Amino acid sequence: MASIQNYLNSGVIDIAPLLSLVLTKSHAALITDCDYQLNNEEKTQLNQLIKQRQSGTPFAYLSGTKGFYHLDFKLAPSVLIPRPETELLIDIALDLFDKNKTCEVLDLGTGSGIIAVTISDKNPNWRLTATDFSIDALKVAQQNAKTNINFRLGNWFEATPNQTFDLIIANPPYIKQGDPHLNDLNFEPQSALVSGKDGLDDIRTIIDNAAQYLNKKGYLLLEHGFDQQQEIIQLLNNDFFNIQKFKDYNQQNRAVLAQIK
Ligand SMILES: C[S@@+](CC[C@H](N)C(=O)[O-])C[C@H]1O[C@@H](n2cnc3c(N)ncnc32)[C@H](O)[C@@H]1O
Repeated sequence: MASIQNYLNSGVIDIAPLLSLVLTKSHAALITDCDYQLNNEEKTQLNQLIKQRQSGTPFAYLSGTKGFYHLDFKLAPSVLIPRPETELLIDIALDLFDKNKTCEVLDLGTGSGIIAVTISDKNPNWRLTATDFSIDALKVAQQNAKTNINFRLGNWFEATPNQTFDLIIANPPYIKQGDPHLNDLNFEPQSALVSGKDGLDDIRTIIDNAAQYLNKKGYLLLEHGFDQQQEIIQLLNNDFFNIQKFKDYNQQNRAVLAQIK
């Protein structure tokens, strides 16, 4: 015998959302129907998920979805789980140009597509291009698209030869090789997280090449690690001015916006 209440009392990590997933019931419905006895199939499915969760698989990979901004996104192990910090990039980008203007926006390293898909959904007049060097990530992003987004496969700007943009956005890998935080991120693709000895290899590549892909007065918007802002500003100084710094909702330095000279 195993009722919803028995499971809820079990102390198992994320048991309520796991029950919701298996029984397709809201949290409120779990409480209302707490005497419901799970059948054998439901118990087997739930026990498998409990094992996976206990061995560290993030809940988002078990449910296969994650909310970001105003939308829900499909996920797979080939893509990074969207982080709330990245919503900052959306707020900054949406404030930059007139909603009704037609402008060209590039989302470099789109992963699950959160940046391109969210911006395009909010401002359908803006033309979005989204790239990744992972074909599996691009497939996930394409499934998440609700509007016409130009998806391109390739290593950073190699994916968009001969194109120029009013705004280039990237949340690139920015963790240092060997950073102890990586021990907690084993289930996510390392190629989405790690970027050389100081975590800045990909950011350097993007900053060094962005100028030739930007229209006059165009902007580059980057997410970065909490301790990388000063170094990034130095890298930007060659080709960019009007450099603005942003903190995330936890008051950590998290993004820079810069305009082409
Ligand atoms: C930190 S994840 C960000 C994903 C998504 N934009 C987000 O904010 O959740 C970095 C993304 O960059 C992609 N990436 C890493 N190196 C790349 C490269 N050299 N060229 C293109 N994309 C790359 C990864 O596959 C991954 O999807």
